[in-house]
Amino acid sequence: MAEVKIGIVGFGFMGHCHADMLKTIDDIKLVAVADTNSNQLKEIPEGIKTYSCIDDMLADADINTVIISTPNPSHLEMVEKSANAKKNIICEKPAAMSVAQFDQMIKAAKQNNVIFTVHQQRRWDKDYQIMKKVYDNRLVGDMYIIKSQLYGVNGNMHDWHVFPEMGGGMLFDWGVHLIDQILDMVDSEVDSLYADVRNVINKDVDDYFKIILKFKNKVMAEIELGTYYLTPKRAWFIGGNKGSALIDGFHGEGKIVRTAHLLENVPGKITMTAAGPTRSFGPPEPGLLKEEPLPEVNVSHRDYFTHFVKAFKKEEELVIKADQVRRVLSVMDAVRKSAKTGEAIRFECKAR
Ligand SMILES: NC(=O)c1ccc[n+]([C@@H]2O[C@H](COP(=O)([O-])OP(=O)(O)OC[C@H]3O[C@@H](n4cnc5c(N)ncnc54)[C@H](O)[C@@H]3O)[C@@H](O)[C@H]2O)c1
Repeated sequence: MAEVKIGIVGFGFMGHCHADMLKTIDDIKLVAVADTNSNQLKEIPEGIKTYSCIDDMLADADINTVIISTPNPSHLEMVEKSANAKKNIICEKPAAMSVAQFDQMIKAAKQNNVIFTVHQQRRWDKDYQIMKKVYDNRLVGDMYIIKSQLYGVNGNMHDWHVFPEMGGGMLFDWGVHLIDQILDMVDSEVDSLYADVRNVINKDVDDYFKIILKFKNKVMAEIELGTYYLTPKRAWFIGGNKGSALIDGFHGEGKIVRTAHLLENVPGKITMTAAGPTRSFGPPEPGLLKEEPLPEVNVSHRDYFTHFVKAFKKEEELVIKADQVRRVLSVMDAVRKSAKTGEAIRFECKAR
């Protein structure tokens, strides 16, 4: 099997994104698309077959791999059908609505000996990869805090994202990516988790959450997202005992800040501020802070598919592994539990 021959089920927003992306990847070919809504199958480029349901597409022997980009609650049915038809599977995130559902998917894939992975392409986001390099190379020393923040101005969810039973809301949306990034970055087990999940302006689904993860290696990670924050931002902060690394923007704009000399036992200098005198929080003395550029990375979402092709050809392992996806879903289950009870959850899971 030299070439990945793809059938996409669910040819809406993400299905179209996949079709465009696949054109740019070697050894992968879009063979067919399936959608129950015939309007989505208009203007399909010549040579690509169309089907009105997944069953007919799965009977097509020209396809060896299915991309599932239908709404969230249908993923289990789509994965089981594709596995039983002996097709490899790339499922959109969130792969499942719960860990229990995901276990059924893993079982179906194992029984049929097919590849099963999830489209967590945000592992190749530039901002994330820069911060992962800061973490992996300990560029700010021993780290104590990682912040991942995503704020927007649109507020309202759209289409099926407004319905809880459809897996709507931001936790199931960007939440999956933001949690996956942190679990991929921190090379330690999660010790405990506290979360608050809110509906700020949406009636039935969440549009704000804060998740605090404490890891066994003493690193704390804080993930915060709000669609009605009204100060748009994609930001990262990593604090360590040899400096701070910060990013403000999807393109990874930011810096590493260090102090010119160690700040142990420095006598307190009183500074008068509008909020009164302070010895610890006045402006830095001239020359105290030095800035360095962040590390360079060269990544794109194409890398998701180029790695998939290599795994398909057995040249390397899958990057997005089922046990990692299961860990993300376990954290999401714990997030919901903590948000409901208002209590921190002791949480045992393997990171990496
Ligand atoms: N990885 C990412 O960054 C990312 C981004 C956006 C969406 N997604 C995921 O992609 C999936 C689809 O989201 P979307 O925004 O493209 O939704 P969408 O509503 O734009 O498209 C879904 C399509 O599936 C079709 N469909 C529904 N039920 C079907 C069925 N039983 N058989 C065949 N077709 C069916 C609909 O007609 C529609 O065309 C979701 O799981 C979502 O979470 C992932």
